[in-house]
Amino acid sequence: MNKIFYSLAVFFGLTAFNAAEATEIKGLPQPDLQQSSPALMELLNNRQSVRAYDKDKAIDDQTLSEILWVANGMNKRGTRTIATARNEQNLKVYVLYEDGIWFYNAADNQLEKISAENAIGFTAEQQKFVLDAPLHLIYTSSDGHWGHDHAGSAYQNVYLYATAKGLATVIRGLINTQELHRALNLSDDEFVIVHQPIGYPK
Ligand SMILES: Cc1cc2nc3c(=O)[nH]c(=O)nc-3n(C[C@H](O)[C@H](O)[C@H](O)COP(=O)(O)O)c2cc1C
Repeated sequence: MNKIFYSLAVFFGLTAFNAAEATEIKGLPQPDLQQSSPALMELLNNRQSVRAYDKDKAIDDQTLSEILWVANGMNKRGTRTIATARNEQNLKVYVLYEDGIWFYNAADNQLEKISAENAIGFTAEQQKFVLDAPLHLIYTSSDGHWGHDHAGSAYQNVYLYATAKGLATVIRGLINTQELHRALNLSDDEFVIVHQPIGYPK
């Protein structure tokens, strides 16, 4: 009897928890797909890794939306802004803020809060400049074969967008993947790939 009561309590407890979490959603503005930009060859020529950010200059929601969209958004064909093996679209992008961890739901163009933990410190243990960036992307996958390729496509798109917009970024592998795996509540078959801080140059 106790066991049944316990199971029901756990079930309803978890359901309530998920429902409560699902309400923490941040809708994103539509990315502006008509904006002009420097020519592709010029962007590639100017692309660089930048490791010093203006910690007082935030990234606005329009820019945030466009960064996420270039990284892994849905395009007009219903595929992604990056190619994915067998069109499995299984790269995941998370945003780390001080108030918690947010999952980018590309189909609904929104961020969904998955945790209230501030996990930014786990990206900065070996490179403190990271802490000045106002925006932190984490790329994860469950695809052991192609996951890294997908992340590479996504972070290169972000590099090019950053170059076009006068933003600063660097892709980073020097992160505490174990702690991030825990903080992001990833399953055993998922893994953290890389971290991409983004901000305005100092
Ligand atoms: C997979 C990968 C991991 C990287 N990890 C780091 C890192 O942890 N920290 C860092 O400062 N730069 C990191 N970088 C950036 C490289 O150091 C940088 O791309 C390289 O020095 C060339 O400079 P550029 O990007 O300005 O052309 C990484 C780059 C790649 C592709």
